[in-house]
Amino acid sequence: MEKQTLIEKLNLDLAGEFGAIIQYLTYAAKVTGPYRPQLSQFFLTEVADEQLHAQFLANKIVALGGQPTTTPRPVPPANTNREMLNAVLAAERQATSDYTERAKQAEEFGDKGLAVQLEDMVRDESGHSEETERILRDWPL
Ligand SMILES: [Fe+2]
Ligand SMILES: [Fe+2]
Repeated sequence: MEKQTLIEKLNLDLAGEFGAIIQYLTYAAKVTGPYRPQLSQFFLTEVADEQLHAQFLANKIVALGGQPTTTPRPVPPANTNREMLNAVLAAERQATSDYTERAKQAEEFGDKGLAVQLEDMVRDESGHSEETERILRDWPL
């Protein structure tokens, strides 16, 4: 893979992380009902992880000679707690599959450090989706 293509793909990932930060922050404000304190806290805790991912990607893009994006991926509209949890689950699954693919591409490109970091991010994102799945598992109708 060409360096330029890798930079473009990492920029798509960075846009996804910015989107995730906005998504969690907004949903934390919007959750309602008796579980509001826990859900709000759960969403806000994710922000810190996504911020570290964004920070890593922005630094790596610059290190590769690229320009980090400042445009987030759009956040899907969601109004009920369940819609928000489903939207978060979809985003986390997407991030898991994107980083799985990206780690392979980094390996092919010959950047082992990047590949290892992206694999760590696969672990983080799959942890986020498993946690969200378990919250949704017994979610009342
Ligand atoms: Fe992330
Ligand atoms: Fe995540």
